[in-house]
Amino acid sequence: MRIAALPATAPSSWQLGFPANSAVSLELPQRNRFRKYERNPSKYWNDFYKRHKNKFFKDRHYLEKQWRVYFGDDDKSSERRKVVLEVGCGAGNTIFPLLATFPNLFIHACDFSPNAVSLVQANENFRADQVNAFVCDVTVDDLSKTISPSSVDIVTLIFALSSVTPNKMTYALKNIKRVLKPNGFVLLRDYAIGDFAQVMLSNKNQMISENFYVRGDGTCAFYFSEALLSNLFKTVGFNAIEVGICSKQIENRSRKVLMDRRWIQAVFRNSFY
Ligand SMILES: C[S@@+](CC[C@H](N)C(=O)[O-])C[C@H]1O[C@@H](n2cnc3c(N)ncnc32)[C@H](O)[C@@H]1O
Repeated sequence: MRIAALPATAPSSWQLGFPANSAVSLELPQRNRFRKYERNPSKYWNDFYKRHKNKFFKDRHYLEKQWRVYFGDDDKSSERRKVVLEVGCGAGNTIFPLLATFPNLFIHACDFSPNAVSLVQANENFRADQVNAFVCDVTVDDLSKTISPSSVDIVTLIFALSSVTPNKMTYALKNIKRVLKPNGFVLLRDYAIGDFAQVMLSNKNQMISENFYVRGDGTCAFYFSEALLSNLFKTVGFNAIEVGICSKQIENRSRKVLMDRRWIQAVFRNSFY
């Protein structure tokens, strides 16, 4: 069986981020049924880490391969440590592989799930002189109260922005921008429109608003198009360096299903204004 993908292109009415009527495209009872997931997302992620601990996500080793140029330091004699902010760090599957390759990095790692932050701090590779792990909801809490403004070289957003309710994404990006250096970079990998999981969620009637869904465990996921993501960052004052879709067909032999997995990968630079 082949699971068909949704159309990969965004409707032309999408200009800046989200269609004005995305919230009313659903019947009101269904919208009300999902409201609690949007109102209190940290509860569902915190429960997720209580249940799965650090066993759910695999370590992400593609960052050091694909983005080495950003993390590496060409000037080997340089004493300066590059500073990274990993937003939505989860159990640390991005930060610990990065530190293994680039031990000279200093990483601020935040998540709105206290259970996730505790898992990072309990990791056998955690060292307080390399990682500052703290609880923060980037859609509410001011990052510059914990991190000096304009002090971060690189922000990583690895399957994190998709968990944020669409109407709070702009706030989250403005918050990140405040602590990023002028000309600093945001490296992003996330779910893309037309991904197999989106098709499954659509079929199960789990759509909250256009391209935004709730999973069975109460966590949410947005599926990005290149146009929407680029416009979202542009509005907040970032320049796109690269934005592209990666796709892979994966076979689940036991369920006899072919899955079209689609991710979006992007690099944005903080412009001065
Ligand atoms: C799919 S996980 C990715 C974890 C990690 N980046 C990785 O590479 O494995 C998404 C994470 O984003 C966190 N998150 C979602 N919304 C957030 C918010 N508003 N503020 C901070 N963290 C958030 C969740 O708690 C979860 O740990």
